[in-house]
Amino acid sequence: MTSNIIDGRAIAAELRGKVKDAVSKLESQPRLAVVLVGEDPASQVYVRSKIKFTQECGMQSVERRLPATATQEEIVETVRALNNDDSVDGILVQLPLPEGINSDAVIEQIDPSKDVDGLTETSAGRLMLGKSGLRPCTPTGCVVLAKSALGDLSGKHCVVLGRSILVGKPAALLFLEQNCTVTIAHSKTDNLPNVCRSADILIPAVGRPEMVKGDWVKAGACVIDVGINRVPHPNKPEKTRLVGDVAYNEAASVAGAITPVPGGVGPMTIACLLRNTVLAACARRG
Ligand code: GUN
Repeated sequence: MTSNIIDGRAIAAELRGKVKDAVSKLESQPRLAVVLVGEDPASQVYVRSKIKFTQECGMQSVERRLPATATQEEIVETVRALNNDDSVDGILVQLPLPEGINSDAVIEQIDPSKDVDGLTETSAGRLMLGKSGLRPCTPTGCVVLAKSALGDLSGKHCVVLGRSILVGKPAALLFLEQNCTVTIAHSKTDNLPNVCRSADILIPAVGRPEMVKGDWVKAGACVIDVGINRVPHPNKPEKTRLVGDVAYNEAASVAGAITPVPGGVGPMTIACLLRNTVLAACARRG
């Protein structure tokens, strides 16, 4: 089977182009606020990218940085101030927050009309109930990528591997919304390789480097790899490299379509965040 590599960078660039067009038609620029607490290097890279692409799409960005020693109350106060700032359309609190901070309680403070990450109870509840609303960015990106490879997803068996709040659970609901038959598999699932092998669309989102082997993939299946894992470089001990949750070379020789890491799901997360920011701005302005 010759695999069709799904180019997440190109598809994300196309989506950002649409966002930029939509922004150019608005009377005033949408504004995205990003809250970054502490010095986590990966979070700093993600936030820099989010701000860069926000500005490239013609939107404004506001950054609120707090030290790793910030208290729960200080973080909550920062979110509340952004809620009350009418010039702010979207609020994103970069995760993970430092140890000792109750992330759920912080996220729950975000005004649902500004919840561009789609993580508040209101946003999650609306997704569960099939009502319109702001959807989580990474799972939305997975749907866009699967549709780019397969077109209509109706009737396909989608196996989501992982049950996190950020990806697994919302991904299952979003693929259900596309009329897929959805299985959520996880660490306690019996005979995991067999379950994965039954998937037309396989979405590994567990954060375990190269866990999904080539013989876990059905011939011709579409594989959307959400994992971004930093591992030691095999030949250069002083270096690291990024790998997904899928053993890419093995899986690519079996799959009909597959996302690389990096360059697959990652760029889509940011593009979907920018789209949510425009959607939030339009909804808030009526
Ligand atoms: N950290 C890793 N992924 C995400 C995401 O999608 N949103 C936020 N806020 N933090 C993250």
